[in-house]
Amino acid sequence: MEIQYDFSLKNYNTFGIEAKAKQFVAVHTLEELKTVLEQNSDKKKFILGGGSNMLLTKDIDALVIHIDLKGKKVIQEDLDHVWIACQAGENWHEFVLWTIDQNYGGLENMSLIPGNVGTTPVQNIGAYGAEIKDSFVSCDAIHIKSLENRTFLKDECQFGYRESIFKNQVKDQYIITSVVFKLTKRHHKINTSYGDILAELTKNNITTPTLKEVSNAVIAIRKSKLPDPNELGNSGSFFKNPIISKKEFEKISQKFPEMKYYDISDTEVKVPAGWLIEQAGFKGKRFGDAGIHKNQALVLVNYGNATGEEILAVSKNIQQTIFDTFGIAIEAEVNII
Ligand code: EPU
Repeated sequence: MEIQYDFSLKNYNTFGIEAKAKQFVAVHTLEELKTVLEQNSDKKKFILGGGSNMLLTKDIDALVIHIDLKGKKVIQEDLDHVWIACQAGENWHEFVLWTIDQNYGGLENMSLIPGNVGTTPVQNIGAYGAEIKDSFVSCDAIHIKSLENRTFLKDECQFGYRESIFKNQVKDQYIITSVVFKLTKRHHKINTSYGDILAELTKNNITTPTLKEVSNAVIAIRKSKLPDPNELGNSGSFFKNPIISKKEFEKISQKFPEMKYYDISDTEVKVPAGWLIEQAGFKGKRFGDAGIHKNQALVLVNYGNATGEEILAVSKNIQQTIFDTFGIAIEAEVNII
């Protein structure tokens, strides 16, 4: 465990932005993590997981601690369910594939989401009608200042749409070290009702899909719409889908009757930001090395050497245009550093 200086983070963020960490250390065990925290208690720290949900707009003037804790194990089971504890540094998609190989159900709709297991609760990741909170039991975390361990049970996490306590009340106070998921061993709840999953399965003549077949369908859909960060730097959805009141929606849809929406409650609707961005003419546009993906307007991309500031400028341009056109404020989902 060695601290490195002026360390390039290009390979540690899926946007592929060149930015440096003043100091950088990767920790592989809980003991290493505690030692680093103890020995550097006076330093400013920045916790780095899979680097898949951040935009680096400058060098990081801090000790960057890369959480590389590995391992997963079954900690409990009954006839119908299994409880699995997974360390924070495991790659999310590899973990999902492993659960499917064991015939454990619950995570299949969230196949191919970039990032590491430890950061999944922070923004309650989700896709195709499933969210992490549906399978989440608890997570273990270390308090950065006191080094105390704390278990956060699901009810304490205040999960919402891309939201949790880790983005709010306890922001920057804890490092999540492992997560426990409760998955099904049988009577899996196959959920193909959302988006294009059913169409993808039907195309392949699948009527009663297995977990693997659902996962494969999700992977095929994601690959057709979303760029692979290894080929084209990106951070998935750059913006959240805005939630607006039905009153506001009715007003706006008089001008834009074809506007898409999903009912959220009796009083609110969610509007797909990708649709708004496409309507505003940004889809597929390129500004230098920064751009908007050609198949999914919600995703901003780095064609090679874009700086974080350039991507940020594009995102601000989009936000302003959407506001001027529709009167809707869209918020970044990605953390701007
Ligand atoms: N749309 C457009 N143009 C676009 C993109 C989307 O008109 O360029 C329209 C689509 O036609 C569709 C609607 O917007 O009617 C929604 O699109 P889609 O189903 O692709 O989902 P999304 O709202 O764009 C969300 C998540 C994704 C997740 C998908 C599938 C957010 C911010 N994003 O995207 O999550 O994979 O649903 O469930 O909620 C991520 O967070 O990184 C991410 C990729």
